[in-house]
Amino acid sequence: MAVTSDLLQALEEESKSLPAEALMQRICEKLAQLPHFNWVGFYMLAQEACKKVLYLGPFVGAPTPHVRIPLHEGICGAAVSQGQTIVVDDVNSDPRYLACSLETKSEIVVPIRVHGEIDIHSHTHAAFGPEERALVERCADLVGRRLEAQ
Ligand code: SME
Repeated sequence: MAVTSDLLQALEEESKSLPAEALMQRICEKLAQLPHFNWVGFYMLAQEACKKVLYLGPFVGAPTPHVRIPLHEGICGAAVSQGQTIVVDDVNSDPRYLACSLETKSEIVVPIRVHGEIDIHSHTHAAFGPEERALVERCADLVGRRLEAQ
């Protein structure tokens, strides 16, 4: 992915002046232009009664029914509970997967420290290799730092 460093440089520059929510929207728009990045969105942690849940934040792509995800559900819940990136090459063979579109074949979910996560779907099987993973992890780090600075 030759575009990666230009894209990151642009986002890093923008992150200096944009509030976190606007940066998240920008990241969605930029990443959704990459080949195979068919749905890009943020889920943010929120306190609900005595437990935490994930709520859909900025996204680019088809509307999803999953606007609220408990931490024990989905690949989204698993990634934030474990505090680590989850890459699923074939969503249909992962029992944790919460379906959103019949077209989705693979997914990556990257936690943003204690704040939430970035979720990306692809219509292509095994779309998220080491380069894509590193790019999304850098974006998550940018958002984490922005959230903590404001
Ligand atoms: N596929 C995710 C749910 C979120 S949406 O489909 C956008 C999951 O398995 O947690």
